[in-house]
Amino acid sequence: MTPDPGLPAAARSGTLGAHTAGQLRRLGRVAGLDPADAEAYADLLAATLGPVAARPLDLPPPNRTFLSDDHTPVEYSLSFTRGAPPALRVLFEPGCGADSLARNGRAGLAAIRYMARRWGFSTAALDEVRDLFLPPSPHGPLALWCALELRPGGVPKVKVYLNPAASGPKRSAETVREALRRFGHRRGFDALPPADGHPFLALDLGDWETPRVKVYLRHEDLSASGAAGLPRTAGGPARAEIEEFFRTAAGAPPDGGDGTGGGAEGGDLRLGRRPGLSCHAFTESGSERPSGFTLHIPVRDYARDDAEALDRAADVLRTRGIDAGPLAEALSAATERPLTEGVGLIAYLALAHQEGHPPRVTAYVSAEAYAVRPPAARVRQPEPVI
Ligand code: TRP
Repeated sequence: MTPDPGLPAAARSGTLGAHTAGQLRRLGRVAGLDPADAEAYADLLAATLGPVAARPLDLPPPNRTFLSDDHTPVEYSLSFTRGAPPALRVLFEPGCGADSLARNGRAGLAAIRYMARRWGFSTAALDEVRDLFLPPSPHGPLALWCALELRPGGVPKVKVYLNPAASGPKRSAETVREALRRFGHRRGFDALPPADGHPFLALDLGDWETPRVKVYLRHEDLSASGAAGLPRTAGGPARAEIEEFFRTAAGAPPDGGDGTGGGAEGGDLRLGRRPGLSCHAFTESGSERPSGFTLHIPVRDYARDDAEALDRAADVLRTRGIDAGPLAEALSAATERPLTEGVGLIAYLALAHQEGHPPRVTAYVSAEAYAVRPPAARVRQPEPVI
C-alpha cells in the first residue's frame, strides 16, 4: 500500500504497533543497530504491548498514561557519550491496555517475568520490593513502566520504573526510604537532597555491570544554581557544568540576562512551568551515598518548537565534543513533520554523571502517535525570579 501523503503520519501507519515498530526500525538504523536486531526489538515491543499494539490509531490512546504528553505508552531516548555511537532505549507501559491500575501492574510484572525467562536474568530485586510498589490496591499515577536499552545482539538491558506513591501518596518518602534500606543503603534516603516529590524509583534488571537503584526527585521552580547543589555523589559533576547544562537546555540567553536586572550572577532562571527532575543512582551495597547523578530538564516547556529544542540539544552535545548529527536524524526517524510545527518531540534533555564513566547526554524522543503539541507562543525563557 502506498502511503497517502495527505494524511498525518500516524493515520497512515494504521495501528499503534505499526507506528512504534516503524519508529524503532528507523531509530535502530540511526543508532547503528543491525536491522535484524531492530526488527526483533520491534516485535518484542509489540508482543509486550499485547492487544494494544493492534489498536487503530484513530481510536483514542489505550489509557491516560503520563508516560508521554499525548498518552502514547511508548517513548524513545538516545544516550550520547563522547567517542561512542548513541545508545537507543525505549520506555513503555506494558500494562497500558488494562482496565485498572492493579491489573496494569500485574501485566507489567508478567511482561518483566517473560523477559527474565527469555533472557535468563533474575527478578530478585523487583521481588524484594514488590509489596511496596505493587500492592493489591495501588495508588496512581503509574504502576510499572519498563525501559529497554537496545544493545547490538538482540539482548537488551532492562530497567523497571515503579511508583513510590503506590502504597499511598503520603507514604512516598517512606516507601523510597524502605526500598533503599532493603537494597542495603540503610541511610541512603538521608543522603538525598531536599525535593518536592518522589515520582519514580527505578531498578536495573538483567545483564548490568553494576545494577543500580535509582531515586527520582521532583524540584519545583528549579534554578541553575539550585540544580548545581543537588548532586550527592562523592566526586560529583562540577557546579559550573550543571549550571551551563541547565542554562543551555532551558534556554537562558548566553549573557545570563533574564530581564530582571539580576545582578552579579546575571540573574537566576527558574523552571516555573514544569519541574526539573534529579535522579540519584545507588550501586555499592552498604554505601549510603549515591554514585550517580542525573539532571532532567523538560525542554518541551521552555522552547517554542522542536527546532529550538534540537538547537539546544546540539549545543549541549557539541560542548562535550559529541556529534549532534545522529539526534537530528533520530528526530526525522520519529516523525515527518517539520520541527517548527510542534513542540515536545524532544521531551527532556538530561545530563548524567556516573562515577567511573564519562558524562552522558540523553535526549528523550516522543512517539507522537496521537497528538502533536502546537508550538508555544514566543516564550523562549524560563520565568525570571521576581
Ligand atoms: N512523561 C513523564 C514526565 O514528563 C514521565 C517521563 C517520561 C520522564 N520520560 C521521561 C521523566 C524522561 C523524566 C525523564 O515526567
